[in-house]
Amino acid sequence: MVCLGNICRSPMAEGIMRHKANAVGKSWQIDSAGTSNFHVDEAPDRRSVKKMKEYNIDISSLRGRQFSVSDFEAFDLILAMDESNFSNIMKLAKNDDHRNRVRMILEYTFPGQRMSVPDPYYGGESGFENVYRLLDSACDKILEEHS
Ligand code: 4NP
Repeated sequence: MVCLGNICRSPMAEGIMRHKANAVGKSWQIDSAGTSNFHVDEAPDRRSVKKMKEYNIDISSLRGRQFSVSDFEAFDLILAMDESNFSNIMKLAKNDDHRNRVRMILEYTFPGQRMSVPDPYYGGESGFENVYRLLDSACDKILEEHS
């Protein structure tokens, strides 16, 4: 799960996906990262933590890290939150195998539309509810399609 800062959207995606995978007994390795190094080693944004808590998922212990080339080998699937994350990830890819692992996360729920999970960082609390809903339905589809 990859966004820009790894403190708002992608830690929420990581928490939601892990919660759903665990619930059906899937031992997937799930992680998140940011394309930037702005918030390395920081906890998720308090608004993300609060929103996730409302849905009984604790992401407070996650810490920011920057996406790196080694992630292309470590993970089968690399899910970008928005178009800018997608192109920054693609710039780091070394070959077609790497490129083929990268998708926009909302492809699962809005196929062919190149929809982005809007960056909620500079907005109000409602942006975080919107992010939660988009990611919750996308993660349901991911589970369905990779089962
Ligand atoms: P995220 O949100 O990419 O969903 O973690 C952001 C967090 C921090 C910044 C931008 C977006 N920032 O510019 O510091």
